[in-house]
Amino acid sequence: MAEERRIVTVLFADLTGTTVLGEARDPEDVRALQTRYYNIAREVVSAHGGTVEKSIGDAVMAVFGLPQAHGDDAQRAMSAALDIRDRVRADPKLASQQTVRIGVNTGEVVATRDNAASDFLITGDAVNVAARLQQTAEPWSILCGERTARAARDRFTLGRPTEIDVKGKRLPIQTLPLLGRAAEATLSRFPLIGRDDDLAQLELVARRAFTDRRPFLVSLVAPAGAGKTRLLEEFLHRLPALSSDATVAIAQCLPYGQRVTYWPLRALLIRLVGLKDEAAPETVREEIRVWLHDRGVESPERAADLLAATIGAGEPEVIDRTALFAAWRTAIEVAARRSPLVLVFEDLHWSSDSLLDLVEVIVQPRGDAAVLMIALTRPELLDRRPGWGGGRRNYVAMSLEPLTDDSVAQLVRHRVGSSAPQIVERVVARAEGNPFFAVEIVQSIKERVLSLNDVAAVEHTLATLPDTIQATILARLDLLEPEERRVLQLGAMFGRTFRADGIAALGPDLASDTDSLLDRLVQKDLIRPSAGDSFAFRHILIREVAYQTLLRSERADLHAAAARRLEAPPGERTHSPN
Ligand SMILES: Nc1ncnc2c1ncn2[C@@H]1O[C@H](COP(=O)(O)OP(=O)(O)O)[C@@H](O)[C@H]1O
Ligand SMILES: [Mg+2]
Repeated sequence: MAEERRIVTVLFADLTGTTVLGEARDPEDVRALQTRYYNIAREVVSAHGGTVEKSIGDAVMAVFGLPQAHGDDAQRAMSAALDIRDRVRADPKLASQQTVRIGVNTGEVVATRDNAASDFLITGDAVNVAARLQQTAEPWSILCGERTARAARDRFTLGRPTEIDVKGKRLPIQTLPLLGRAAEATLSRFPLIGRDDDLAQLELVARRAFTDRRPFLVSLVAPAGAGKTRLLEEFLHRLPALSSDATVAIAQCLPYGQRVTYWPLRALLIRLVGLKDEAAPETVREEIRVWLHDRGVESPERAADLLAATIGAGEPEVIDRTALFAAWRTAIEVAARRSPLVLVFEDLHWSSDSLLDLVEVIVQPRGDAAVLMIALTRPELLDRRPGWGGGRRNYVAMSLEPLTDDSVAQLVRHRVGSSAPQIVERVVARAEGNPFFAVEIVQSIKERVLSLNDVAAVEHTLATLPDTIQATILARLDLLEPEERRVLQLGAMFGRTFRADGIAALGPDLASDTDSLLDRLVQKDLIRPSAGDSFAFRHILIREVAYQTLLRSERADLHAAAARRLEAPPGERTHSPN
């Protein structure tokens, strides 16, 4: 497997006090404590989708974003850091004599992406800095590097930045203590722009579901950052105008940290039944039973048990899938009996396969029911479930197209506060209709550039891709088959557009047929057929990220090969340049 340049987040967590202990205690006791600690660290790290790379003495090193980037690896690492710290602190055996110190840092490394290899080699300054942050951290505290902190500004609270020296670095680096998780994000303060028709379509479907009493399923499919969540927020905000008594319940699928397969449904049930979040399992079962009974379900005991089990108030191991799905379907039907119901599945692409199976069943209530189900998802879901939604009655598939340049310009103007036209224009050109990209680029300019009139600084910032964007796109590329991914890397060598024979010329190592690989990439909406027989990256930044994964040395070789190919007379172009 070839080496790549990637941005990863590295976590070092060290247990202090062990050395002193080592002198005073029997080695077996020390070993037992260490094992306890490693187990906690391993469990937490893997629950967050990271990998423990090695444990040296009492320190654990974990990597997030390798072999698979998730788009939010910095957040995962921060969340893992908090969990490790809290779990060690809550462990009476460990906490009585030990303290934990953690460093988390994000940066570029060179690494192999080999799923099979049990240990992988990563090299880069980012690793040393993470180790240094850990050594600098106070007992029980977590120190983050600046890039890590920046990736997580909305979700975590951070303390005051300080500077520390790192061996081999000329300038001190900025670090910030991680204090905790931030409260839930509130509704966007910025107006919704350029989605009138999408909103109208959603509202039309809602009206029909409510007035005709017919269950509808709407899938809103669009790549990360297209504005699915924002559109939903607006729809829900305006919902009271369509139905004064509709119940809204949202199941948020999370990319990590789910304790139970069906965890996202927990929030649905809590909302529908009106459960207390921290109620004891017996209470939960009883309340569900009463709720079902009140709504006319005869002998609701078994259904109540199953529903309780899905949300962790029961034994999930003994669940009979068919019975479980039936119980959920009943719950949805019952919930919609008195007033309209809006069920939302947020980020369904992150759902486990079992949960997807269940969702497919519950989105088909029997009989008349005023239920509107909305699934927000990235197109990755369709790679996994090509038939998603198909063949179902009252299924509406909506895709969110990129925003128009005018809309993005408006959005940017809202966020930069002034209408500095030279900036607006450049951000619009780079964001290519993706509001998330636009927001992130604006944010990075605001963070790094003191004055918007400093054209050179603005240019410089515009030329650097924010980590958040890089991470989102890399997560998508990492889900591709290795050869599909390779084609994108090779295509990136030619720029925004490239031709099949160009790929063939650069990549004689491909086992599959280039045309079929290109077809698959078109299917996955990463590239589009373009003028002549060429292909264009769907988004300029996809090209940029694919390009950036190549090692500098490899880029140089490929550039030379690409240049030779471009110079060759047309008749010779199908041959390998070597
Ligand atoms: N139509 C829009 N008008 C204004 N801001 C938008 C619009 N769509 C998205 N945004 C903003 O862009 C960012 C990404 O949108 P989001 O809804 O989170 O994307 P998705 O859910 O598709 O990943 C958010 O900050 C959001 O507020
Ligand atoms: Mg979203």
